[in-house]
Amino acid sequence: MTWIDLGNPLPKHPSDPYQPFRWATGKIQRLPAGSTVASPAVLEVLQQRRTVRQFASLEDEGLADFLWYACRAHETWPSDLGFELESRASPSAGAIHPIHLLIKRPNDLRWWLYEPRGHFLAELTTAPKVLNGLCEHSQQVVDAPHATLILFLAEPGKTLAKYQEGCSLIWRDAGAQLATMALAAYGLGLNFCPLGITGEPWASALAEEGQLVGVGLAFLGLAP
Ligand SMILES: Cc1cc2nc3c(=O)[nH]c(=O)nc-3n(C[C@H](O)[C@H](O)[C@H](O)COP(=O)(O)O)c2cc1C
Repeated sequence: MTWIDLGNPLPKHPSDPYQPFRWATGKIQRLPAGSTVASPAVLEVLQQRRTVRQFASLEDEGLADFLWYACRAHETWPSDLGFELESRASPSAGAIHPIHLLIKRPNDLRWWLYEPRGHFLAELTTAPKVLNGLCEHSQQVVDAPHATLILFLAEPGKTLAKYQEGCSLIWRDAGAQLATMALAAYGLGLNFCPLGITGEPWASALAEEGQLVGVGLAFLGLAP
């Protein structure tokens, strides 16, 4: 067995200010605020949540509710790291939230970046070509042609601005985000399935020199 030691994270003093990645975006799609949903109590969600691998197409209102409850930023505040810190449903080391969520809806060839601070989607103009192989690869893992595909795309420089040996924090953030999404999906009556693949080698080809790296995927959809 080979255990890859990612080191023991410690805050840097002083931190290394970081210039966040600049995306090439096209169209913007504003999303409606989350609707009031009759959902089960949180303790029932914790007892009942299960992975379900059958999906019907999720319409935009349902996707907007999911992103609103599971992923949006509730609060932001300035930092000396070169970007804002955030509070979301999911915990994140240092409140840094280094994982971007890229969304690929069924019947739409485009990929969209979810912007948690404004609750909107931004089209990623170069992504369809770069991520085409990843769509096929995901379908080989779980056959889900009607599901919405979510790519967890980490920007390690954000976390590494504050922490030395911080790589394990990014994987733990990915796990926290995945669990939050799985529980939110159940609460909203949606089906959700994490994928063990990382999204590599396609995901990191969206940027140069390891600025972005794939740290997982998931399928989301309506119960058929
Ligand atoms: C990190 C992670 C990766 C997973 N990868 C896959 C996968 O590639 N394919 C799949 O069908 N399920 C995958 N799953 C779902 C697990 O198989 C599922 O959580 C497990 O069987 C327990 O079932 P439950 O979620 O209903 O409790 C993954 C779950 C996690 C947390």
